[in-house]
Amino acid sequence: MPSPSAGTWQSRGSTCTKAVRTALKLGYDHVDTADVYGNHQAIRQALQGVDRDKIFITSKVRRGDLHHDDLLKMGDRALSELGIDHLDLLLIHWPNRQVPVAETLTAMAELVHQGKVRSIGVSNFTIRDLREAQQVTRVPISVNQVRFHPYNNQRDLLDYCNDHGIVVTAYSPFGNGSLVGDRKLMRIASRYDRSFAQIVLRWLVSKGVVVIPKSTNPNHLADNMDIFDWELEPGDTEAIEALDR
Ligand SMILES: NC(=O)c1ccc[n+]([C@@H]2O[C@H](COP(=O)([O-])OP(=O)(O)OC[C@H]3O[C@@H](n4cnc5c(N)ncnc54)[C@H](OP(=O)(O)O)[C@@H]3O)[C@@H](O)[C@H]2O)c1
Repeated sequence: MPSPSAGTWQSRGSTCTKAVRTALKLGYDHVDTADVYGNHQAIRQALQGVDRDKIFITSKVRRGDLHHDDLLKMGDRALSELGIDHLDLLLIHWPNRQVPVAETLTAMAELVHQGKVRSIGVSNFTIRDLREAQQVTRVPISVNQVRFHPYNNQRDLLDYCNDHGIVVTAYSPFGNGSLVGDRKLMRIASRYDRSFAQIVLRWLVSKGVVVIPKSTNPNHLADNMDIFDWELEPGDTEAIEALDR
């Protein structure tokens, strides 16, 4: 599963098209969207002229569409809005206790069998939610996408997912911008001649998680890709671990 993925929450219309197009030109090969973001069509514009087979596309089904028939309709609508014939990954965006998870997962398995979705997963699931879903699914749960950044370290969840072959994807790696300017991260970054953002992403990828930074700034988009050919010293990793709140 490619990492980093280009995040697109709160990005719509031409701003979204431009940012995703820039990301794809820079070499991003994964785009993360969701029905609720309202930007499938903007992403479709950015995908024009791009080799579909080289791009991994994730979308998510909203909490209100988790009943069987609603989910099947959502799947077809998402494909039509994105102008593609399959999603690489479809996630349950948030758990919803009003709808039996078995019903939702049955519909998702049907989309897989119809070739409309390659893999299925979940988002914002706790260990308890995951256990329940794993007991009733016919298709493996490949991914759990969760908020994961230095102030919100997901150690227990990551251990559980590693033990069960579930990829963890870290969303809001910069706390939706709230980590920008963190003094400890800035101090570490200056020692490596890197940005705070690269330090955070490097810390996350060294844990084996997929990252989804979001940016509409071309320089930041480029920065956020340059996270693979260098390492953090153990002391700095420990300092970042200590930021957990
Ligand atoms: N599954 C879920 O429930 C869920 C929830 C939230 C998010 N997500 C996914 O995760 C993605 C990322 O999370 P997010 O949108 O909350 O935000 P984020 O990636 O944590 O932070 C985005 C903010 O950081 C800034 N930024 C990005 N790169 C930077 C850099 N190199 N240097 C300085 N500032 C930088 C951006 O500003 P600029 O645009 O100016 O760079 C923006 O203000 C979302 O877009 C979405 O795809 C999923």
